[in-house]
Amino acid sequence: MQTVNTLAQLQPLVNSWRLAGKRVALVPTMGNLHEGHLRLMEVALQQADVVVATIFVNPSQFGPGEDFDGYPRTEQQDQQQLAAANTDCLFMPSVQEVYGDRPQTIVSVPRLASLHCGQTRPGHFDGVATIVCKLFNMVQPHCAVFGLKDFQQFTVIKTMVHDLNMPIDIIGVETVRDASGLAKSSRNSYLSDSEKSTAALLHQTLCQTRDAITNGNRNYSELAQQALLALQNAGFRPDYFNICQRDTLLPAQTSDQALVILAAAWLGKARLIDNLSFCL
Ligand code: PAF
Repeated sequence: MQTVNTLAQLQPLVNSWRLAGKRVALVPTMGNLHEGHLRLMEVALQQADVVVATIFVNPSQFGPGEDFDGYPRTEQQDQQQLAAANTDCLFMPSVQEVYGDRPQTIVSVPRLASLHCGQTRPGHFDGVATIVCKLFNMVQPHCAVFGLKDFQQFTVIKTMVHDLNMPIDIIGVETVRDASGLAKSSRNSYLSDSEKSTAALLHQTLCQTRDAITNGNRNYSELAQQALLALQNAGFRPDYFNICQRDTLLPAQTSDQALVILAAAWLGKARLIDNLSFCL
């Protein structure tokens, strides 16, 4: 695996692969890799001849008072894992390399970015769309692989790619969970052991709500209220629990067939997000 830190090092590599007719996959990450990321790498290897992973903790997607400074950084361990996963190239740029001095341009998908996580994290999805757009321009991949745990992020990125005619296939990968059902996340490291067992309730609550819907309950607002209460009673500070149309992420109507339930809740110092998508 070649590790590069600058665009000047990255671009000749990618150009040579593209000229040789190789299909290039990009797996953008913020590091602190876990099984969920390694699954993204596996899918990327199945989809392309060459895989570029990036590690960049992107300051523009963190709001004031959020965990940018404390975000777990484990670069050495990450590099070993990526090399073992047959990654061809790791791009690990500095903030200066990515943003330069006083950048003015922001990529925004405003309607989607204002919903759900966007309500409590204003500006977050502008930061995500901007960095992903920049990484696409830097790496020029044929395809890019993202985890579906961040379902709203995935939808924002797909919409950006569609709206801006970016010639990149966006591939979503199912969430990897531990035995309790808890979705793998770098932020799980903020949880104590006892919080970790409580955390599994988020996925269980999503499953219970999905089961109620598939069994015929269409009272979505009541189901969401019940779920919020169950989470609160278990010790979470829920942010939202929303039953949505899968494509638009707008509130689900009783006639909708493709649904996604999106949830975010604080447990101790960790803000956990999860979702469940299904068809009726
Ligand atoms: O999902 C993440 O890790 C980040 O939001 C991403 C896509 C790498 C952009 O910084």
